Amino acid sequence: PASDPGLVERARKAKEALGDRLFVLGHHYQRDEVIQFADVTGDSFKLAQQAAARPEAEYIVFCGVHFMAESADILTGDAQKVILPDLAAGCSMADMATFDQVEECWDALEDAGLAGEVIPVTYMNSSADIKAFCGRNGGAVCTSSNARRALDWAFEQGGKVLFLPDQHLGRNTAVLEMGMSLDDCVVWNPHRPGGGLTREQLERARMILWRGHCSVHGRFTAESVDDVRARIPGVNVLVHPECRHEVVLKADHVGSTEHIIRTLEAAPAGSSWAIGTELNLVKRLAQTFPDKNVSFLDRTVCYCSTMNRIDLPHLVWALESLVLAEEDGAVVNQITVDDDTAHWARVALDRMLALP
Ligand code: 13P
Ligand code: SF4
Repeated sequence: PASDPGLVERARKAKEALGDRLFVLGHHYQRDEVIQFADVTGDSFKLAQQAAARPEAEYIVFCGVHFMAESADILTGDAQKVILPDLAAGCSMADMATFDQVEECWDALEDAGLAGEVIPVTYMNSSADIKAFCGRNGGAVCTSSNARRALDWAFEQGGKVLFLPDQHLGRNTAVLEMGMSLDDCVVWNPHRPGGGLTREQLERARMILWRGHCSVHGRFTAESVDDVRARIPGVNVLVHPECRHEVVLKADHVGSTEHIIRTLEAAPAGSSWAIGTELNLVKRLAQTFPDKNVSFLDRTVCYCSTMNRIDLPHLVWALESLVLAEEDGAVVNQITVDDDTAHWARVALDRMLALP
């Protein structure tokens, strides 16, 4: 549905009142009604860089999910306040790796005499304390745009990688981009004693994948690809690396959110594309490129429910509250990461930002 004109006007006015003191970041999976107010849009890598690029902005309103706002807080100065318009906008994948579970896994690797050779690498889609864990233990953060480069770096530091929390991004990058075999990968299940793995399995493995996944991308199946090929002759199937390995194997192209957008930009007019990523982005791509036939890979897969929690009413509330905060100083929904966690998470983020 079209945005409520009254709310659009209120958001516009509040933005105008805040001027340069406000910087609004919007992830590509956000609703149209929200993305129209973003000063910058991007995938999680681009937004992490952008968060630090406007030191004069006092307020960074992050239209995305909780782990992204935490990263923005870590990468910006103390004087900058990061606001998440709805605190319930979390990420189910990030929630699949808790600090205690990861510590338990690390202790087990230490007991097996392996921790010295394992480098922990966490996907950006993880909480700040998991990023800090990686920073403290010689590891790094990666995103879907630079997972290969981060893993190359990690294998220069040690013989094995513990990859958190998305098993699919880890497996797809290791097998499809780095030439490892599926046998080089094992999956650590945090709900089973010892991760459900034997010591021999851990010793043999090069990639220890955490048993996490995205509840949106993980729903595309190999049948989704077969069905769309039967429905749309000559279709190009383009998917995000958070999709399952068998989906990526059947697809024609795989890449991060920014890669998906660039591929569509470069595609010839009249070509057909089935896209396996979040629905808000796919719908926007279809509107942006009316000369190309853009469809959703599987019509039974739905929006990311937590990304969608940031809607125009929440954005208006956050912006108007910031205008009021000029008088009473009360900033709503500020995301803050404690100093020690922020320090070590930043170490891991900086290792990523320094990748060639
Ligand atoms: P990217 O923004 O890195 O493509 O990640 C996709 C995603 O699922 C974000 O929540
Ligand atoms: Fe998390 Fe997946 Fe939603 Fe991204 S799309 S926020 S990874 S659940």
